Amino acid sequence: MYTSRRTWLKQVGLATAGIGASSLETIAAPGNPFWDNTIDDKPVRLVANENPYGPSPLARKAMADHISISNRYNGELTGVLVAALAKKHEVTAGNILVGAGSTEILDITARFSASKKGSFVIAQPTYDYWTYVVEKSGFRKIGVPLAADKKNDLQAMLCAVQPDTNLIYLCNPNNPTGTVCDRDILVTFVKEATKKAIVLVDEAYIDFTEQQSLCDLVPYNKNLVIAKTFSKIYGLAGARTGYAIAHKDTIEQLALMVSWPAGSLSVVSAAAAIASLGDEKFVKENYNLNQLTRKYTIEQLERLRLTCIPSNTNFVYFSLDNYKKDYFALLKQNNIIGTRIYEEQGKWTRITVGTMKEMKKFISAVA
Ligand SMILES: Cc1ncc(COP(=O)(O)O)c(C=O)c1O
Repeated sequence: MYTSRRTWLKQVGLATAGIGASSLETIAAPGNPFWDNTIDDKPVRLVANENPYGPSPLARKAMADHISISNRYNGELTGVLVAALAKKHEVTAGNILVGAGSTEILDITARFSASKKGSFVIAQPTYDYWTYVVEKSGFRKIGVPLAADKKNDLQAMLCAVQPDTNLIYLCNPNNPTGTVCDRDILVTFVKEATKKAIVLVDEAYIDFTEQQSLCDLVPYNKNLVIAKTFSKIYGLAGARTGYAIAHKDTIEQLALMVSWPAGSLSVVSAAAAIASLGDEKFVKENYNLNQLTRKYTIEQLERLRLTCIPSNTNFVYFSLDNYKKDYFALLKQNNIIGTRIYEEQGKWTRITVGTMKEMKKFISAVA
């Protein structure tokens, strides 16, 4: 039961200290056919880069505790979350804007940039669901192919900028390829590119790497927006919680694009996110399990003579060029939900790294 913010935060702290050493494999909601790992005939979702283990135990408890105060607006809890995020990223509360998932942040930034018309620069392939709405409004897309190693081709992206370009989107690590650019190179890129347009860096998967976020640059650069999410390593995709980190003047501008800038999160989602930030053990365990299971997946795919791109994320990008069977039919027959072909040349597809049990099922389905 929620008593006061202070008491509740204290409880979260106590719960963090008291959490047992049980493996994440065993804490998935029992009996929930959507994702209970013990139910063998449920569909295996290897499609959306969701966390197969989460939410964390602390987030689950916080969500349950906050159902009963869902008759109240979320303002106070959102404030607590923003303060916690500011502390984590060593910025101020004024540098943060929360949204219903990072999709809302991408959408707000895109609509803000598109309001000036013109064009935006984006890699191909990358995460681009958020672009369709602004494209319809006349915001012109300038697609830039990835480099041969499937990394963002930063030089080519800079060269693609036109006089009317207002936005450059950079997904690092990139979805669907799982590649990262070196931080030093990124810092130089951001310095150059932000002279020309807003640079929107999507760090949805950065928690699966050792790379430091670019958010330390925002106090000095009004044209840099970083999009972050609780949907991946924190396992809160369904709680729809994300945020932007940017210069405070830029956050103020972005906030004008929404009717109620602090209104997107439910009380339950905000509580889950706050509790998740206090569960470092869960994040570490997820990081380690992902490394282990991803290694297994890549080794097995390579054993089938399929070329894989080294992954820095919770998914693997691989080529079906040498594959002699009907991959998508096999997925369907085995009740496994995968993705699609992202690049016809080389027949590149992506598979999310699930639990070890799920990946064994996947490998035996396609072997
Ligand atoms: C690169 C990237 N950015 C953003 C998102 C959207 O995440 P959210 O659930 O925070 O809206 C995804 C989802 O898969 C993604 O892959």
